[in-house]
Amino acid sequence: MPDTQHLYRPIRVLHLEDSAVDHQLVHRALERSGIAFTMQRVETLQALQDSFHSASFDVILADYRLPGFTAIDAWNIVLGLEKRPPFILLSGAIGEPAAVAAIKLGMSDYLPKGDMGKLAHVIQRAIEIQKARLAKARADAELAASERRLADFAEHLQATIEQERAAIAREIHDDIGGSLAAIKFDLAWIARHSRDPAMLEHVNVASEMLRHAIGASQRIMMNLRPAILDQGLVAALDWLCTGFEKRTGIKTLFRAAPQDNELDKAIQLTAYRTAQEALTNISKYAQCSQVTIELSDARGVLTLEVTDNGCGIAPADVDKPKAYGLRGLHERAKTVGGWLDVSTRAGLGTSIILSVPLGTGEHADNQEPFNDSRYSL
Ligand SMILES: Nc1ncnc2c1ncn2[C@@H]1O[C@H](COP(=O)(O)OP(=O)(O)O)[C@@H](O)[C@H]1O
Ligand SMILES: [Mg+2]
Repeated sequence: MPDTQHLYRPIRVLHLEDSAVDHQLVHRALERSGIAFTMQRVETLQALQDSFHSASFDVILADYRLPGFTAIDAWNIVLGLEKRPPFILLSGAIGEPAAVAAIKLGMSDYLPKGDMGKLAHVIQRAIEIQKARLAKARADAELAASERRLADFAEHLQATIEQERAAIAREIHDDIGGSLAAIKFDLAWIARHSRDPAMLEHVNVASEMLRHAIGASQRIMMNLRPAILDQGLVAALDWLCTGFEKRTGIKTLFRAAPQDNELDKAIQLTAYRTAQEALTNISKYAQCSQVTIELSDARGVLTLEVTDNGCGIAPADVDKPKAYGLRGLHERAKTVGGWLDVSTRAGLGTSIILSVPLGTGEHADNQEPFNDSRYSL
């Protein structure tokens, strides 16, 4: 919306000028231009400072050389203002280097007194530029705040999901696990107390089904809450790769450089979930024959790289509106102070690379309760 009040309000000019004659010239030039304005003259730095306490201005015009100080001293005062009006040097010839230096310091413009006819135009342009600059700064601040809110929200969601997963794993363990263990006990009892071959055959079949159910619930718990991470990231990734190769038949190589330090749990979980999502994507989309997972912590940065030799991600698929896997990984990497790179070439494959600088120790706490050994059947 246009600032209509500003359009109709006279422009408030503060004129830093020791010559009353020159001030009159400025007055006349502005009157001649037809713009509506009010103008106050100050001659000293003290008066300049005082004027900011009693009024606000839309523009400051400043002579370059005044008795005992220059426009640079005045500029330094203006720099301290919270709302800084455009500052235009309106001076006798000061030479190009001085004018350029003034603009470099952040002053809005320079106009020689001989060009007074252009003054109204220069003032209006400086005010417009200032307005645009303020609007951009406001928009940038709003965007940054909104990005921060989004990142906080993603972090919160991530933490909630992990907690929810841990809770479901616990339910499976306590409810389903408990019942399966009881059935196992009863089946064993029946097998011990029966001589009927048909009955024993049924017990055998039921036991087989039971083994399957126990295996399935263990697998589901493991996916929900990888207890294997208690043994460290390397063991967990190794387990993930072995399971992936067995399930998909895709040759999966895992290489881990020796880990110097014990990794933070949140970083381990982020790396694990990154590998998990990358492998899920590979099984769904890559149509590849080989996968390599490499883990290193060289030069103080944890790097996890999951590479396939499949079809690559088509450019149109990168911004799929409903695809949150890779987007979630980007956000998740940020919560531990890291970042995600996706490198892909049509027909040659895809690499998902997670990098996390180690040793900063500053990141969100979205850990799972790893060291609770109750979560195994
Ligand atoms: N390794 C891969 N090889 C080929 N295409 C992939 C691979 N990983 C992801 N993609 C493509 O990128 C898209 C976005 O992936 P993702 O963000 O995980 O979302 P989703 O799996 O929910 O579709 C996928 O839909 C797929 O088209
Ligand atoms: Mg996915």
